[in-house]
Amino acid sequence: MRVTMIGAGYVGLVSGACFADFGHHVTCIDKDAEKVAALNRGEIPIFEPGLADLVAANVRQERLSFAVDLAAVAAAEAVFIAVGTPSRRGDGHADLSFVYDAVREVAAVLSATAVVVTKSTVPVGTGDEIERILREKRPDADLQVVSNPEFLREGAAIQDFKHPDRIVVGTDDAGARNVLAEIYRPLYLNEPPLLYVSRRTAELIKYAANAFLATKITFINEIADLCEQVGADVQEVARGMGLDNRIGAKFLHAGPGFGGSCFPKDASALLKTAHDHGVALRIVEAVAMANDQRKRAMARKVVAALDGSVRGKTVAVLGLTFKPNTDDTRDSPAIPLIVALQDLGATVRAYDPAGMEQAKPQLPAIHYHNSAYAAAEGADAVVIATEWEQFRALDLARLKSLMAQPVIVDLRNIYRADEMKRAAFRYVAVGRSGVE
Ligand SMILES: NC(=O)c1ccc[n+]([C@@H]2O[C@H](COP(=O)([O-])OP(=O)(O)OC[C@H]3O[C@@H](n4cnc5c(N)ncnc54)[C@H](O)[C@@H]3O)[C@@H](O)[C@H]2O)c1
Repeated sequence: MRVTMIGAGYVGLVSGACFADFGHHVTCIDKDAEKVAALNRGEIPIFEPGLADLVAANVRQERLSFAVDLAAVAAAEAVFIAVGTPSRRGDGHADLSFVYDAVREVAAVLSATAVVVTKSTVPVGTGDEIERILREKRPDADLQVVSNPEFLREGAAIQDFKHPDRIVVGTDDAGARNVLAEIYRPLYLNEPPLLYVSRRTAELIKYAANAFLATKITFINEIADLCEQVGADVQEVARGMGLDNRIGAKFLHAGPGFGGSCFPKDASALLKTAHDHGVALRIVEAVAMANDQRKRAMARKVVAALDGSVRGKTVAVLGLTFKPNTDDTRDSPAIPLIVALQDLGATVRAYDPAGMEQAKPQLPAIHYHNSAYAAAEGADAVVIATEWEQFRALDLARLKSLMAQPVIVDLRNIYRADEMKRAAFRYVAVGRSGVE
């Protein structure tokens, strides 16, 4: 099939490359001319494992191309909208201006029978508004608008896209359902669970799923706080809970609070939708508030580990991205942590394997280094903010020899207290006893 993808960011580029890999002919269109030029030179503008090879292979086989102009839209049977839906400044609603702009732009060019598919995460009712815009601009055409929210995780995006737990297709139109089934057909050997629902239901499934996952994380984070007070171990509590099939082990890792480009903004947008409809989502409200407070509160752990003050001290932060295997620093917990440390008078040194360029505009006044060891030089404490693989087996003797004081604050619980004790570090973890 001929598919165009509007927006070549994390979701659009991965989805476009995977659709091309299924055998479809895909053009990814982005209004960011530099991004398109880079892609046409064979450079991948984001860090996502496996993506460079997948893109290169499909470009070589002439199934995947990139453009700024909308020419390819005219021949497309399906046009996916995968532009950003960030939080709107001021009120936390999803900012839908990119989505509606994209729809107005493609409206003039679309073939009269195309299916327009929203992959961006959009509040309930957005599909109705897209349909209204299309009918107004193209009274001649029989255009269908489908919601097909994306559930991929950055860092494992290709695997997730190719082996989805479910594919949600929101439309009541049989023809549009067939087009989506045909697009995802190459996955049929793996029996992809296509879930056909109404458009509004599909839009809400995405928000409800993200809010539930955010709730799980926040729940275990609060249990971690309690563990610290009562002398229990949150990792063992989580394991004891997660082995119960009704609960499941995933998203029960205590840490510095959830971040990333989705959970915080999606929780906020869901709350706005609920308020607009006079419904109280008290659990989601509590989750959003607890998580915001938690991110900044992580600085207090560092202060406590450094005997009550970081003023005039140097803190090395390892990891700036919101999780490993991505360069995405959007809403990363490392950022409010670092800002709070700076507010309290600390000098911050940092290293991240992929996210330093993205972090620089948000954190201009810290020192960036090219390895964990370089960042740790002269530091009074090392803080592990992201659980990158390469931070899991640091040479503790070497680290200690470089630091001014042997203090590690492990916000991802990737080390054990006994190994830190052997290496003679003061060690602070989350929801577990450390080493004094
Ligand atoms: N990042 C994730 O892990 C993830 C997962 C699931 C769903 N989502 C959702 O997918 C959507 C996209 O997220 P993302 O992280 O890929 O965003 P992104 O910011 O990485 O990419 C968006 C791209 O769209 C382009 N764009 C904006 N307006 C355009 C227009 N009119 N025409 C052409 N291109 C345009 C931008 O230049 C940018 O390259 C969001 O709604 C997000 O909530 C994201």
